[in-house]
Amino acid sequence: MNPSPKTVLITGSSSGIGLETALYFYEKGWHVVAAMRSPEKRRTRLHEKGLPDLVHLDVTDTESIRAALEYTLDKYHRLDVLVNNAGYAVYGPFESASAQQVQRQFDTNVFGLMEVCRQALPYLRRQQGGTIINVASMGGRVGFPLYSLYNSTKWAVEGFSEALQYELSGFNIKVRLIEPGVISTDFYERSIDQGENAEANRVYAEIIQRARKQMGGGASPRLVAACIYRAAVERGDRLRYIVGGDALQVSWLRRLLPEGLFYRLLKKVTLA
Ligand SMILES: NC(=O)c1ccc[n+]([C@@H]2O[C@H](COP(=O)([O-])OP(=O)(O)OC[C@H]3O[C@@H](n4cnc5c(N)ncnc54)[C@H](OP(=O)(O)O)[C@@H]3O)[C@@H](O)[C@H]2O)c1
Repeated sequence: MNPSPKTVLITGSSSGIGLETALYFYEKGWHVVAAMRSPEKRRTRLHEKGLPDLVHLDVTDTESIRAALEYTLDKYHRLDVLVNNAGYAVYGPFESASAQQVQRQFDTNVFGLMEVCRQALPYLRRQQGGTIINVASMGGRVGFPLYSLYNSTKWAVEGFSEALQYELSGFNIKVRLIEPGVISTDFYERSIDQGENAEANRVYAEIIQRARKQMGGGASPRLVAACIYRAAVERGDRLRYIVGGDALQVSWLRRLLPEGLFYRLLKKVTLA
């Protein structure tokens, strides 16, 4: 007899990595609760494929998190895997970001992710097991020019996840970190919030111009989906999963090179 399908809830499933991950788990026969801010507005491939569980979840809205978890547990009675994928980037010189942009960046990428974990953990503990998969970034290990805010949120997710794994291991709850390099999604268009202070953007015009030349390209989000799936089903206590040739390369160089040399090299590559 086949074991009953497992259940996964994925935040930010409307596009990119979240969407591909939802499709990937669905194709593998899982119950997929695809959570997104506007399931009614954004028609996606998930709608076309007829996924039955597209639910509203804004990570900055506590009540929507509660409702999405309640929906999942009422319908499937278990949450085996939680994928915290929702996120976006404030981009530009730090000085060009308004206080609201700084706040919103952390509200979504850090406090939102923490709130989803905070509300899911009592269920995972009671059912005596589960896996939390947090989508961080190569930029959660290394800082890149003009990504100071985004990178600091992903560094926070890294620290949070690394520390959290210890207190959860006694409840058979695993924590995983996904660290993609540049991935070809809507991210660099739709999910980039440019620092809005025009005067600061003028002062930093030269570095903004040099950095712009380096944008574009990236691996398929399907690659990240496959990696997230692997992190969900793999046994053992591995925490970090690096995805993409660029992320692997940067990670190796970061480990091997003396700090000053690494920074000089990164500057050369990212600022033409
Ligand atoms: N693309 C890359 O190169 C790359 C590399 C490393 C890590 N990542 C990370 O991968 C994750 C997914 O990004 P992506 O590349 O797939 O970009 P994407 O296609 O732009 O997807 C971003 C997703 O996050 C959702 N989101 C944003 N704010 C939210 C909120 N407050 N509540 C719920 N959902 C929210 C968006 O929902 P809406 O449709 O409602 O806007 C969208 O579904 C992000 O955490 C990102 O930091 C991306």
